[in-house]
Amino acid sequence: MSKSKLGFQRQPYYLQDQWIEHVRWSDSYSMKIKLIDDQHMEILRFVNDLLNNKEETEADKHEYFKDVIGRTVLYIKNHFATEERIMLATRFPGYEDHKKAHNGFTLTVIKSAKDFEDGKRLVLTNFTNFLRNWVLAHIAVMDVLYIKHFKRFNICCTMSDTGLSTEDIVNAAFEQPGSDLHLCPVCRGLYYSQQSVEDLEKEWNTVAANH
Ligand SMILES: [Fe+2]
Ligand SMILES: [Fe+2]
Repeated sequence: MSKSKLGFQRQPYYLQDQWIEHVRWSDSYSMKIKLIDDQHMEILRFVNDLLNNKEETEADKHEYFKDVIGRTVLYIKNHFATEERIMLATRFPGYEDHKKAHNGFTLTVIKSAKDFEDGKRLVLTNFTNFLRNWVLAHIAVMDVLYIKHFKRFNICCTMSDTGLSTEDIVNAAFEQPGSDLHLCPVCRGLYYSQQSVEDLEKEWNTVAANH
């Protein structure tokens, strides 16, 4: 494999020919929160990248996985931070357990990356299987627990409910400043609601105080 095909400069794997979607997104994975769904979809794409590995030599395999694992881990850490930030801001009662699950995953990944760097064989296959199984199980068992809780808060992370795209909302904000658009107290993004800011703040404080 030529050097130009390696590293961050190259075309994303999912745009390459013969890329197979081994793990397909399904509606049953949806948290009905656009921000989270987008991140979960991206994580599945990383898993598929790893499953699409076709490098033949050990050196190419090493390079491939080093690249994909690095980007996967960074992305997942960012995703965990997003979930944990919303959990904390909304006083989600399952925060501690959920954070423990995230931390357990992070520790395993750090160990796998170290084994990989130490040149241990078969770790890569194990890592890919672990990643796929962990992500799917975590979404199905742990992440689903926060859906109902998050939905009680009118946070921008639920803006998919409005039927408007992020772009529509941002455009509308410029056209009609302050109309039905508000700043999310969790992620500081814009969200759409016909309630007044005062009412939203009251609702927010009442729900948060009950946890
Ligand atoms: Fe999670
Ligand atoms: Fe998640």
